[in-house]
Amino acid sequence: MRAFNKTRTRSVILVSLLVALLLALFLPAMALAEPDGPPSALEPASPVSAAIADLHTIVLIIAASVFLVVEGLILIAAFRFRRRAKDAGEPPQIHGNTRLEIAWTVAPAVIVVALFVLAVRAQQNIDAAAYSAEPGVPISVEVIGHQWWWEFRYPDFGIATAGQMVIPVGRVINLQITSADVIHSFWAPELSGKTDAMQGVINQSLLRASRPGDYYGQCAELCGVSHAYMRLVVTAVSEDEFAAWVKSQAGDAAAPAETAAQTGQQIFQSAGCAGCHVIRGVPGAVGKTGPDLTHVYGRPCFAGCTLATTPYNLAKWLADPPAVKAGSLMPNLNLSPADIASLVAYLQTLK
Ligand code: CUA
Repeated sequence: MRAFNKTRTRSVILVSLLVALLLALFLPAMALAEPDGPPSALEPASPVSAAIADLHTIVLIIAASVFLVVEGLILIAAFRFRRRAKDAGEPPQIHGNTRLEIAWTVAPAVIVVALFVLAVRAQQNIDAAAYSAEPGVPISVEVIGHQWWWEFRYPDFGIATAGQMVIPVGRVINLQITSADVIHSFWAPELSGKTDAMQGVINQSLLRASRPGDYYGQCAELCGVSHAYMRLVVTAVSEDEFAAWVKSQAGDAAAPAETAAQTGQQIFQSAGCAGCHVIRGVPGAVGKTGPDLTHVYGRPCFAGCTLATTPYNLAKWLADPPAVKAGSLMPNLNLSPADIASLVAYLQTLK
């Protein structure tokens, strides 16, 4: 009995040490905020993502506890019952232990039921968080996945953008998610779970940012060769900033004043660009295949939000789009360096 107690005490100490070691290793990593790192579902910026992150933490704690108990018992058994010099012949042969077998059947069943209850509760929290009464009416945004970029249309304001979705903090955004071609999946980890984008189907998802910021996202459904280059950014701003943004987006493109930009506009209309892109206010620029470029230079990124909107990157892109992004539907138009320079000058006026 004495020996047993001593062993049990030692086991408890060993398991406790293992728990402490694991917590020391993982807790700082979990708590570490990485403002410039990749978007993380563990740094929620919306009530919906917070509910998902909370469920993840609870499940992780349960799973880590199971891992520690099982691995701890294995280590203890291997150490305590190892073969020693004085041992001779086979150890006692044991078959069956009803109490133990009931225990290891009931315990996992209880854990699975607990996980089920927690998951249902998280789902309810997500619905409650998304639908909770907020000042102001929800804003509708049509999210359309294309190979390989995201289009965002605001039917209430008659504007369309690509790569970047701007929303006011605190307002419920009613996303109507669909696809123009294959199946994509809308995912901004800090704001929402994943929602499939399918042609002919509109999937609704409610989004609400709880603080301002740029929240990057990524298509989360393998959709072809440039799936990895189908990014997006949700920019959450104040109501005033949002109103100003809507105003800036609502107008047609201003006629360029400088010669280089004027030449650029002519090339845009004659070289084939207008057949695939809308620029409101420019005759003939009505193509729907590519992004609406009316205010392209006001966006932080382009080409599926993989390139920052800079003159250098625009020139690089125009020189040979499929070389920058494999499979790009925008072909290499074999533009001369002079044409590219004029086009870049023109695009810079589209703010
Ligand atoms: Cu679209 Cu992956």
